[in-house]
Amino acid sequence: MDYVRASTCCLLILIALIQQPSGAAVHGSVFKDLTTHQGQQIMRSAKSAQMLSFMDTDANPCDDFYGYACGNFARFNGATAEKDTSISQDMFAGYLRRVRQLLNQPRMSTDWPMETLVKYFYESCLDTTSLRIHQRSRIISVLREFGGMPAVEGDSWTGIDFDPLETMAQLLSRYGKLTLLGVYVSPDYKNSQINRLYLGQRNDLVPIDESAKLAKKLEIQMRLQNLLGLQEGRARKTAEEIVELEAELSRNAQDWNQDRDPRLRNRLTLLSNMTETYGRVLNMTRFVKTWLGHEYNLPVYESVRSYLSQLKKILASTPKRILANYMLSSLLRDYEIQVDESHQEAICAERLTVLMPDVVDHLVYNSLEQQSPHIANDLNNLWRELKATFQEILSSDDLKWLKQQPRDDLLEKLKDMSFEIAGGKPMDFEEQYGALVISSADFYGNVQRLLALQAANLKADLMRSSRSDNYYDGVIESPFYVTEANMVVLPAMYMQHRYLWDDVYPAALKYGTLGYILGHELAHGFDDLNRLYDSHGNLHDSWSPDTKLIYDHDKNCLADQLADMRYSGLKLPKMEAQGENIADNVGIRIAHATYAKWLEQHSKLKDTETLPNMPQTPQQLFYLSVAQSMCSDILEERRPVFVRNSVHPPNESRVFVMMANSKSFAEAFQCGNETKLNPPRRCAMY
Ligand SMILES: *[C@@H]1O[C@H](CO)[C@@H](O)[C@H](O)[C@H]1NC(C)=O
Ligand SMILES: *[C@@H]1O[C@H](CO)[C@@H](O)[C@H](O)[C@H]1NC(C)=O
Ligand SMILES: *[C@@H]1O[C@H](CO)[C@@H](O)[C@H](O)[C@H]1NC(C)=O
Ligand SMILES: *[C@@H]1O[C@H](CO)[C@@H](O)[C@H](O)[C@H]1NC(C)=O
Ligand SMILES: [Zn+2]
Repeated sequence: MDYVRASTCCLLILIALIQQPSGAAVHGSVFKDLTTHQGQQIMRSAKSAQMLSFMDTDANPCDDFYGYACGNFARFNGATAEKDTSISQDMFAGYLRRVRQLLNQPRMSTDWPMETLVKYFYESCLDTTSLRIHQRSRIISVLREFGGMPAVEGDSWTGIDFDPLETMAQLLSRYGKLTLLGVYVSPDYKNSQINRLYLGQRNDLVPIDESAKLAKKLEIQMRLQNLLGLQEGRARKTAEEIVELEAELSRNAQDWNQDRDPRLRNRLTLLSNMTETYGRVLNMTRFVKTWLGHEYNLPVYESVRSYLSQLKKILASTPKRILANYMLSSLLRDYEIQVDESHQEAICAERLTVLMPDVVDHLVYNSLEQQSPHIANDLNNLWRELKATFQEILSSDDLKWLKQQPRDDLLEKLKDMSFEIAGGKPMDFEEQYGALVISSADFYGNVQRLLALQAANLKADLMRSSRSDNYYDGVIESPFYVTEANMVVLPAMYMQHRYLWDDVYPAALKYGTLGYILGHELAHGFDDLNRLYDSHGNLHDSWSPDTKLIYDHDKNCLADQLADMRYSGLKLPKMEAQGENIADNVGIRIAHATYAKWLEQHSKLKDTETLPNMPQTPQQLFYLSVAQSMCSDILEERRPVFVRNSVHPPNESRVFVMMANSKSFAEAFQCGNETKLNPPRRCAMY
């Protein structure tokens, strides 16, 4: 043990070195040396040192597997006031380093057009002098396009010309800003081929408690002071009004985590019908006409009536000044950028990643592909193996409750399910960004033009058939399942190997990390919400009451298990929606069975299925890497909010429940039947 501890420091430095994506480390001597046998031994030792450094071997794996696997993680990677920590955070940091390195490369004639564009954009962001000089005047001029922000204009803002509905429509029309009303152009859940307009609840609203309110108020107050130069008193009062209005809005909002069935919140209707319901104050006919610049007579989805009724009341009773401050504050964040000469490259790389996530992903994908051409192939093969395993599970006679028809439907859905690495396929950048003008000397202007273009694209989307394979809606940091497209997407950052897996590591690590992660997403296609959709992403709830009854029974088993758990002294809420737990439960089973098959087929390679200084068997390594891919730390103060608002239970609980439900885990660690992770009863979906 002491030997490992002593060497941990240096080996960790080595890991850091391996994971540096900078050209020198990758193409230089370090990388070449690591391809020799000795180099591979060093890499295996480094991995082992890293895994051991996270572990707390005093914990009993059969009672507290998260503690055993991740008990020391926070000692080296503790959460800070700025951010929580996890392996995915590390991967994202690696991704951002690569973005920065790519954007720093000089423009070349061989760059593809979007690459040139994004490099110009980046250049404009590095111009700190210009950033400083133009910030305030630029924001104020944008605000004045909408009559100005009362908090800034003071008494000269009379509100005579201010029309809340009109301003709301104009903000959306010119810069794509959602304010009081949610306006979404998405595939019709009954027919994923066509796009529909969804009008109603904004889906970023979460309930806020007093402490969250306080934090938010302070954040907005600072923004008002720093960006707009408001005096402290006025900034504080304005921030309070803005946050209170938002709290008022969320009061009647439906909790997405609980009611995810789209039929429960959406009603297909006509704008004229909505206008009749909500009257002049929330005249949807007028709103949409102002937004689009023409009448719109096709059916729309009215989304969450209680929210719309609440909004109508708010519009009628809130002073115009407060409404205007609230709405216009949506414009500020895009122009808020830290200016700091010593970190400007990192700041700008991060900002460009947010501004053009699809383009940046494509850049990163190409560079990773060039460096390790086989990775995309490996990932696709892994995906196919996982699919084959789930096909066996679904076809098995053990699933007696699943009658022929629903079973055939599920198998067809599985067969049609596709897999993509974000950034792997060039999107239609020309169509999306073709009209964009970028200047290397005008960052704020670039931002403004980009927003305007996105706003125009949103309007155009409404007139187009749906492109459900265009899944970008911001930076892609975690894998996800796209319901409408029946597709799993893995973030480009997962192509950076050695964080999780590598050819020279045991295969157990690959199946335990990526195998589990992809298995989890695959299983989402069959969770309590997505099972309602067919293989084309259309809602088609065809299960018989009997079949549903058994499914819900199994689901309740999971829900009860979770509701029994505590995190940081807090009881986890009992949730109706169990998508994440279902995906975990099925995902780990798929990954384990796939690994077991691999082991059987590669029995000769068994001695590479261990790591130096680690006594763990291949099966134990598999479960250890599942748990370690979830090592994380959340700052104590943030835990209550996390418990309340996250769709995922805390990673501690997820690991506990997954292992407790895996018989093969108990076998792998030879857990006695008095231990917590070898319980007499287990829950299993499918
Ligand atoms: C509006 O929709 C409701 C519910 O579908 C319906 O009862 C009502 O008749 C509709 N009104 C008009 C004017 O179409
Ligand atoms: C709603 O707006 C439309 C278009 O501006 C207008 O024709 C109609 O009279 C308005 N209805 C109400 C109830 O205000
Ligand atoms: C839990 O683990 C996953 C997988 O690594 C990670 O993405 C996530 O950030 C972790 N959760 C928290 C709250 O850190
Ligand atoms: C486990 O439980 C079974 C029956 O519940 C019992 O017969 C057996 O002795 C137990 N084994 C151990 C190792 O405690
Ligand atoms: Zn999930």
